[in-house]
Amino acid sequence: MNYIGSKYSLLNFIDETIAEVTGDNFDTFCDIFAGTGVVGQHYKKKGHKVIANDMQYYSFVMNRHFIGNHKPLLFSGLNKNIAGLTAKDSGKNVEKVFEYLNSLDGKKGFIYNNYSVGGTEGFEYSRMYFTDANASKCDAIRTKIEEWKTSSLITEDEYFQLLASLIESTDKYANTASVYGAFLKQFKKSALADLVLKPLPVIVNKKEHEVHNKDSNILIDEIECDVLYLDPPYNERQYATNYHMLETIARNDNPTIKGKTGLREYQHQKSEYCSRGKVKEAFEDLIQKAKTKYIFVSYNNEGLLSEADLKEILSKKGEYRCFKKEYARYKADNNRDYKDNKTFEYLHCVVCK
Ligand SMILES: C[S@@+](CC[C@H](N)C(=O)[O-])C[C@H]1O[C@@H](n2cnc3c(N)ncnc32)[C@H](O)[C@@H]1O
Repeated sequence: MNYIGSKYSLLNFIDETIAEVTGDNFDTFCDIFAGTGVVGQHYKKKGHKVIANDMQYYSFVMNRHFIGNHKPLLFSGLNKNIAGLTAKDSGKNVEKVFEYLNSLDGKKGFIYNNYSVGGTEGFEYSRMYFTDANASKCDAIRTKIEEWKTSSLITEDEYFQLLASLIESTDKYANTASVYGAFLKQFKKSALADLVLKPLPVIVNKKEHEVHNKDSNILIDEIECDVLYLDPPYNERQYATNYHMLETIARNDNPTIKGKTGLREYQHQKSEYCSRGKVKEAFEDLIQKAKTKYIFVSYNNEGLLSEADLKEILSKKGEYRCFKKEYARYKADNNRDYKDNKTFEYLHCVVCK
């Protein structure tokens, strides 16, 4: 997923730095601001136990699948509904289940009625986030997944594989520059293509993992780990507004929405890490409470916390070092006049006392 702050392209830098500081000699890795979960996935693939967390529910869903699911899924409860499911071949069964979902007729549900051109025609705000066909396909698949869960035809693990796959697939057809803060006035090419639901793979690993959906500063009291990795937001843009559509698809809660962009209520999901007045106190509280051997913090040189703030707070916890990498700037929208195309990404480290 094209996600603001994704560390996908920085995984080598993160991995090399963590290996240098820890000698790769640790068991549990905690990704407490997990987003898409790519960093936790990397450590899960290396055989570690992973604890993943994010306050956004769509992110929880992605992590619940990528991190929480660690055995192949069989969908055996659906063998009366879908022909050709086998007793043991997970790959084949997943293919059949996705084929079935892709063949459903569209349904005029919440996404169609509020975010497609046909569904919002004549409304105060006509919205163009999805084509009519893709919005109604998303609604049909979302409804079926919930129906299967409610009638206990799929397990919780299977539910999250389907839902995470729907979120990731639907996002590819959104008619936006990248985030859901606005839609484009003309359909772009990728938005005009027909939505195809593609299965997200299960990362097989022998450990049991933990996935949470909490505020980091609450969860920190409840967990212990060897490596605590922090990748908080670093500017004032709230993830809750940028990704409101994914939250609504994930929750399936038909929220009251407002304005031109159809934004759901998000006051309870405002992050203190996006507030100039609150971030320092929140960060200090988190670091103070952490029960871990090592802390690594990804942060950008243009963030709300200064390098001096980070150094001051982290040094109180143990031996502090900082690693730096030049990085191509994330462009949320191509029309904005960015000062510079290059920015620096830092990895601040502490070996705790
Ligand atoms: C920079 S992104 C993380 C990106 C992630 N490392 C990746 O590669 O996809 C920051 C994440 O922190 C989450 N977040 C913000 N404030 C939070 C809080 N107080 N507790 C938990 N998660 C929070 C946001 O929802 C967002 O997904």
